[in-house]
Amino acid sequence: MNASNAIRHGLDWDRATQALATECQTFIGRNPRSAALARQAQEHLMFGVPLHWMNDWGTPFALHAAHAQGATVTDVDGHTLSDFCLGDTGAMWGHAPAPVAAALQRQATRGYTTMLATEDAVVVGRELSQRFGLPLWQFALSATDANRYVVRWVRAATGRTKILVFNGCYHGTIEDVFVDLVDGQPRQRDSLLGQVHPLLDHTVVVEFNDLAALDAALAPGDVACVLAEPAMTNIGMVLPQPGFWEEAQAIIRRHGSLLVLDETHTISTGPGGYTQAHGLQPDALVLGKPVGGGVACAVYGFSAPLAEAAMRAKRLAPPGHSGIGTTLSGNMLAMAAMRATLTEVMTPGACQHMQTLAGRLSGGLRELIDRHGLPWCVTQVGARTEFQFCPTPPRNGTEADAALDAELEHFIHLSLLNRGVLITPFHNMMLTCPDTTAPQVDGLLAALDGVVRQVLPGA
Ligand SMILES: Cc1ncc(COP(=O)(O)O)c(C=O)c1O
Repeated sequence: MNASNAIRHGLDWDRATQALATECQTFIGRNPRSAALARQAQEHLMFGVPLHWMNDWGTPFALHAAHAQGATVTDVDGHTLSDFCLGDTGAMWGHAPAPVAAALQRQATRGYTTMLATEDAVVVGRELSQRFGLPLWQFALSATDANRYVVRWVRAATGRTKILVFNGCYHGTIEDVFVDLVDGQPRQRDSLLGQVHPLLDHTVVVEFNDLAALDAALAPGDVACVLAEPAMTNIGMVLPQPGFWEEAQAIIRRHGSLLVLDETHTISTGPGGYTQAHGLQPDALVLGKPVGGGVACAVYGFSAPLAEAAMRAKRLAPPGHSGIGTTLSGNMLAMAAMRATLTEVMTPGACQHMQTLAGRLSGGLRELIDRHGLPWCVTQVGARTEFQFCPTPPRNGTEADAALDAELEHFIHLSLLNRGVLITPFHNMMLTCPDTTAPQVDGLLAALDGVVRQVLPGA
């Protein structure tokens, strides 16, 4: 933090800078065992963590988890944290849900991977079809991979080479999507490491909620598919304007392109995701992260015509590698986890509970923002709630990006963590799960209130 005597997003920046230094000291004092493990990890783990993103929490050293259950994570120093991050959606149904734990236990002595189909796969395919309304499904190990394979299938099925994404999107580390609009011009994302193939040749990018731009971009007739989240969640949340998807679907159809909806985060909307809740009709749907209750797996489903065209493309291709799939895709362990998750965990009752508590959280946040006169807003998509540093909800990726403030987020996240509350390290997203309780929600609100109060102008 470097601005001095400034008011930033309604807060006194000098006070926030001092408070951050205090929070860092508090974290260091609270977590000696994590500190010791972090020191040891430096010896053999690049960046001192299994994945470099794990440093994005902004803690003075990596917090180490001991175990996670329901809506809590217990760290190695024995603090039990209320978890509103939930593995950034991977644990959206709570940590170690009992039916998934039981299924994994059953499978534990029955093998994990054989490259053979199982009875669980039949049940999972049926469940997915009934839930999402698309008849035919395939599996992957991550949402990233599922998106990558869908794009490959769609290109093969349509013979078109381009895809269209919305500015500010994230669909995992599938290369094709790392294209932004910078001052209105498409540009490959600078942060992408080791990228050698130019992405702008085959990826078109427009702003979310801009129907005219969508229409113009699809008009040449060379875009195989629009790959989109039904509501953007990865640059801060951006909701579709009323009527956006109805018109967007008509435009996509008119230009002979396909719609691929990535529901990996928006599954927070309810048991059938945003798609079912709002009657959307995608040609393909992707779901990763929580579909196996936290076990690594992902699914993608196709409409009958797309599946037919994709299968024809495969039949007509010469024998050999398709570029689709990995050895462990559809493995027995993942299938058992998905079967339990779909049949026993992702229930309407569970979703109702999650949404009720997310509503309590959103309402409490709005009240807090009003009380302190902060120029912030709150957006909710089912069990997913976010506060953003702008007075009205952003309408596209550019507006959402302008509302991000990594330093302020860092201060808030670390302060909450020191008060026993975990929220995602990226922007200000909070999820509720079937195990989240009203006292946990109220605890988060009280903690945030305490953090904000100490850095209000004139406090
Ligand atoms: C919408 C969306 N799709 C795909 C992914 C990629 O998921 P994974 O990292 O599990 O591959 C993410 C990750 O955040 C996501 O938000």
